[in-house]
Amino acid sequence: MKTRHAVAALLAGSVAIAASAIAIATAAPAPAAPAAPAGGGLQILDFKPAFDDLMTMLVQPRHTKLWIAAQQQNWQLAGFQLNEMGSALRRVGQTIPKYRNISVEATVSSIFTPKIQAVAGAIAAKNQQQFNAAYGELTNACNLCHEAMEHPFLVIKVPDASAANAYPDQDFRPIAAAPAK
Ligand code: HEC
Repeated sequence: MKTRHAVAALLAGSVAIAASAIAIATAAPAPAAPAAPAGGGLQILDFKPAFDDLMTMLVQPRHTKLWIAAQQQNWQLAGFQLNEMGSALRRVGQTIPKYRNISVEATVSSIFTPKIQAVAGAIAAKNQQQFNAAYGELTNACNLCHEAMEHPFLVIKVPDASAANAYPDQDFRPIAAAPAK
């Protein structure tokens, strides 16, 4: 009986999380936080991530991982991270269509999308030099947008060698090169 209650509380919690994720995706008003289950249990905070939160959560980690994967010549993972980063930026635009009266979506497509395509081309060609050049330009485009949107002090750079240790719990090497378990 005790276990059943715990499961019910957990289920209620995950439904609420799913509901708030949908609210973020559609930029609909956040649903009222559900009342905490009687006798304690999960409490869902009414937290709506803002632009800087979304950048820090969704965009920045993919930008770093994209670089690490490509330095390991793990083109499959690099392609995946690039895709994740592009769709994350699209989701930011859907969530926050206008930032200080500037259309986010239009800015992403004009400043950023061509750079993503160039990086995708380098990944498809499995060409390290081409990748590094295209990644540098992509990174400049991050900063172009920060300047255009009145945050010139947010300076993104191409990671240095220490980036390889940024995610100690993830193996960035191509699968074939990983040691046998
Ligand atoms: C559409 C324009 C745009 C693009 C493209 C863009 N950013 Fe941003 N970014 C912003 C704005 C605007 C803010 C500040 C938001 C705020 O203050 O709420 C921001 C904030 C950030 C922050 C938060 C700063 C912090 O340390 O908390 C990070 C990190 C960031 N961006 C990383 C990136 C990276 C990496 C890229 C490129 C892969 C990128 N951004 C591309 C507009 C953009």
